[in-house]
Parts: sequence; structure tokens; C-alpha cells
Amino acid sequence: AKIKEIEFVKSSSRPKDCPRDDRPEFAMVGRSNVGKSSLINYLVRKKEVALTSKKPGKTQLINHFLVNKSWYLVDLPGYGFANAPESAKMDWSSFTKGYFLNRDSLVAVLLLIDASVPPQKIDLDCANWLGRNNISITFVFTKCDKMKASKGKRPDENIKRFQELIRENYRQHPPWIMTSSVTGLGRDDLLLHMSQLRNY
Ligand code: GTP
Ligand code: MG
Repeated sequence: AKIKEIEFVKSSSRPKDCPRDDRPEFAMVGRSNVGKSSLINYLVRKKEVALTSKKPGKTQLINHFLVNKSWYLVDLPGYGFANAPESAKMDWSSFTKGYFLNRDSLVAVLLLIDASVPPQKIDLDCANWLGRNNISITFVFTKCDKMKASKGKRPDENIKRFQELIRENYRQHPPWIMTSSVTGLGRDDLLLHMSQLRNY
């Protein structure tokens, strides 16, 4: 399940501009600043594959990265950045939802959830929307190094609470993985998980 090679392919401003080959892909979504770009860099062990920044809203396009010349990791714009005008929030939903509903080669959405804060309504809304639309998801809890009580070793209150809130809306709880792009926690688990889904 190793990543030997990753190349940036293109940025698309519309779903229909995305690459047209049928290689399987995984899309990463989550609140702005949750750590999507950092997670791509950590998966490939490179500092600057995807642009990261402390300022939310940096990634505004659908970015395709081709891994081992065989599958795609897709970095999507973050949702819910605090200062965005109402119109920009609407753009996120139509644009990104269109991609989710029409992308046949999408294997699963990696829904990134910040483990260092209590469950956020916007994340629950997103999880429920994906569930209702039968889009396969995996929860990726990020920033687990910031969980003070357990130092990332076991799920803390934020994660447990999130799972309880989700449980009501799923017959089966989607797979979930704890990660930290700082300590490398969860990297091998996530790579193995994606390789199993690709070969399924
Ligand atoms: P947008 O592109 O704006 O949607 O943000 P993003 O989700 O791509 O977030 P990004 O990867 O740029 O990370 C945002 C901030 O969180 C940066 O300051 C990162 O250094 C920090 N960060 C990301 N992952 C982790 C993590 O696992 N642990 C800690 N402590 N900080 C992290
Ligand atoms: Mg980003």
C-alpha cells in the first residue's frame, strides 16, 4: 500500500473539467483548516505537494493528484470558513455536491473531522448529507496529537461524542481512522484502508 510516486495533475474549477480516465479516486473533504492538504503531504511524506496554509480557504479548486500512476487523491475546497459571505457558502455546496453525485470513479469520500474540537454542526450536516445520498465515506479524525488527555493514543470525548451523534443516522457506522500529520499516527492504516477499498 506504499506511495512511491505522486504527481499533481490538474486543478479544475468545474466538476466536468476533472480528468476523464476512470482511475479510482478518493476525495478529501472537511471544514476549512481541518488539515486536508497536510494529510495529503503526510500520506506521501512530502512537504509541499498540496499547498498548506494557516489561512483558511486556500484551496479553492478540485485538485487531482495521481498516485503510483494508478489512482487519484483529490483535494477539495474546505467548507464553512467563518468569514465567507453567504454566496461563497452556497458555491461550495452546489459545486462540491455536483462532483460527489456525478463522479462515477469516486471510491470513497474521506471526511476529515478535527479531533481537537467538539462535534461541529456543519460536519454532522455534511456526514448526514453524504449518508443520505449513499456516498461511501470514511471518517478521518485529524490533529489527534492535540487530544490532551490521551495524546492521540485512544479516542477522546470529541471523537466518542461525534460517533454517538452520527450513529443515529447510519445503520452501520462508517469506517474511521485516527490521524495526525504531525506524529504520523494512522498513516499506514489509512493507506491500507484505501488499498482495500480500491481492490474491493
Ligand atoms: P483549506 O485548504 O483552507 O481548506 O485547509 P486545509 O484543510 O487544507 O488545512 P491545512 O492542511 O492547510 O492545515 C491547516 C492548519 O492546521 C495548518 O496550520 C496545519 O499545520 C495545521 N494542521 C494540519 N494537520 C495537523 C495535525 O495533524 N496536527 C496539528 N497539530 N496541526 C495540524
Ligand atoms: Mg487545503
